Amino acid sequence: MTAQDTRPASAAEEAEPPPTLSDLRDRALAVLDPAVRDFLEGGAGDETTLARNRRAFDRWQFVPRVMSGLRAPSTRTEFLGIPLELPVLTAPFGADELFHPEGQRAVARANAAAGVAGIAPEAGSSSIEAITAAAPGAPMLAQLHPMGPPENFRAMLDRIVAAGFRGVCVTVDCPTGGWRERLRRRPVDLSPVISGNYTAPDTVAPEEVFGQLFDRTGTGVWGWAELAEIMRDQPLPWMAKGVLTGHDADAAVRAGAAAVLVSNHGGRQLDSTPAALEQLPEVVAAVGGRAQIALDSGIRRGADVIKAIALGADVVVLGRLAVYGLVVGGEAGVAHVHRLLREECTTVLTLLGRGGVRELTRDAVREVTW
Ligand SMILES: Cc1cc2nc3c(=O)[nH]c(=O)nc-3n(C[C@H](O)[C@H](O)[C@H](O)COP(=O)(O)O)c2cc1C
Repeated sequence: MTAQDTRPASAAEEAEPPPTLSDLRDRALAVLDPAVRDFLEGGAGDETTLARNRRAFDRWQFVPRVMSGLRAPSTRTEFLGIPLELPVLTAPFGADELFHPEGQRAVARANAAAGVAGIAPEAGSSSIEAITAAAPGAPMLAQLHPMGPPENFRAMLDRIVAAGFRGVCVTVDCPTGGWRERLRRRPVDLSPVISGNYTAPDTVAPEEVFGQLFDRTGTGVWGWAELAEIMRDQPLPWMAKGVLTGHDADAAVRAGAAAVLVSNHGGRQLDSTPAALEQLPEVVAAVGGRAQIALDSGIRRGADVIKAIALGADVVVLGRLAVYGLVVGGEAGVAHVHRLLREECTTVLTLLGRGGVRELTRDAVREVTW
């Protein structure tokens, strides 16, 4: 027996990557500072939407086909012209260096290695240019908040195009920050970790841009017409992030969106809304093939990815799940999330008897009736 073999089992396990995504989450939450953990885990109001986002996945069962004869199911797909090895994007989560010193730059490298696309956040700890530079040539989107002075938004769009991003993600459900009670009880000073795009001396001060977000008067609110007019003048395909109804999905497509992200912001914005998954069929019907569909809010395992795709999403977006990977191991931690997701997705597709994510149809799932 070597000295290494005599180490306590728990210490040896700590050195190993977590065996499952729920173990990875547990490990991440165990090491985070309590206030940062609350910022990450918390939702708005009584957090009913946050809880519902998870429960909604239990309301759908798989309908397997045995002896399908289909081998090696494919997880490949395409989104906004970007080829993907997994039907997955990582979310634009801001304040990313609260979770790891390399923040979204580490996420970008893990994504590039896994053939997954990322969305660089406007409220990120580093600039969007630093995120693309971390994984040169890797296809990515960049995210913006449509609020405040349009010239700021236009200036960011010019930077996004110049930096070689492949699309824009416009967060439409955040005209002001949600009513997050955990943050009111235990505030976190976000200003040092959200100013990555506004640190140069000749750019606007971050408080000028994000002041609107934290302001409670609603003065920064825009409408679809303003957004449509600005987006018409730029060359990239764009996705409206944070749509929950057929009505709003239709408005987004009419405003020119090439994709709609069905999302309630991970339960962080308006509490007492339905789960994103519950609303997916309504949005798919309203869009009627005019735009691609993404879904986030509550994705925690490969089976969730497959359910969302069977219900009509083209891809899913990972919010907290990507953050857990980042906390646990930076780039390697996010790479581990992608690896576990890919293995679980492949297992579920094989057991379902379906050839791949692009062949998944609505009859692969059914709603629980009792
Ligand atoms: C710590 C954190 C920061 C976030 N920051 C942003 C942001 O700056 N802009 C944005 O559009 N969404 C932001 N989001 C929301 C995510 O993009 C995504 O919609 C949400 O996390 C999905 O839900 P899930 O965490 O249950 O997967 C943030 C989420 C978290 C957890």
